[in-house]
Amino acid sequence: MDGNGRWAQAQGKRRVTGHKAGVESVRAVVKGARKAGVKALTLFAFSSENWQRPEKEVSVLMDLFMYVLTREVKRLHKNNICFQVIGDVSRFSDKLQKSIKKSEQLTANNDGLILSIAANYGGRWDIANAAKILASQVKNSEISLEDIDEKLLHSQTCLAELPALDLLIRTGGDYRISNFLLWQAAYAELYFTDILWPDFDEEQFEKAIDVFDQRERRYGQTGEQVKQAKE
Ligand code: IPE
Ligand code: MG
Repeated sequence: MDGNGRWAQAQGKRRVTGHKAGVESVRAVVKGARKAGVKALTLFAFSSENWQRPEKEVSVLMDLFMYVLTREVKRLHKNNICFQVIGDVSRFSDKLQKSIKKSEQLTANNDGLILSIAANYGGRWDIANAAKILASQVKNSEISLEDIDEKLLHSQTCLAELPALDLLIRTGGDYRISNFLLWQAAYAELYFTDILWPDFDEEQFEKAIDVFDQRERRYGQTGEQVKQAKE
């Protein structure tokens, strides 16, 4: 979800205004995802690198996160959405951590859209964390070194219980992944748009899905093989 700050600055407003406006785009995209029958939607809200921003901005983002959690979760629950946070939440305030836990518990049994918010998340952290878990399992003789393969490492990464990541959207005009779902994005279709996050509405989301539908996914095979398999 990139481009909040620039969106606000372009209108001569403070960056915070952009972050607040971005919440509306979250609502729009959640709605679009439900309409399109998307099983899981993961939004990158705050990266492990975002702590380096000015203290004031970080604190505004934390307040906004807390505010959105308290205000929106009931609505998510009503819409049968399962909410979870991925990332190292231990660095957040106790109050925020409690609120996250409460929201996750409230919506845990919902079987509609799975909405994950990546907060203090980093793709490298995710992979390193999975490696650490496996290493400790080897150390405790729960698994042997030979057991470790892609599948087992995958099982310890975030979102392992979800279907494979199909589409990764980046708004805001930068053409990079910036440490988002690195492991999970191995075969994802990438969609980049110059639209700034607060301008990314339901129509923009539908457009991204349409583009995704036009892509041919070969997974290392030839185009002919894919066509044959479809017939
Ligand atoms: C994305 O918008 C939101 C967060 C990273 C929290 P930015 O704050 O990165 O907006 P730009 O890139 O400066 O416009
Ligand atoms: Mg940015």
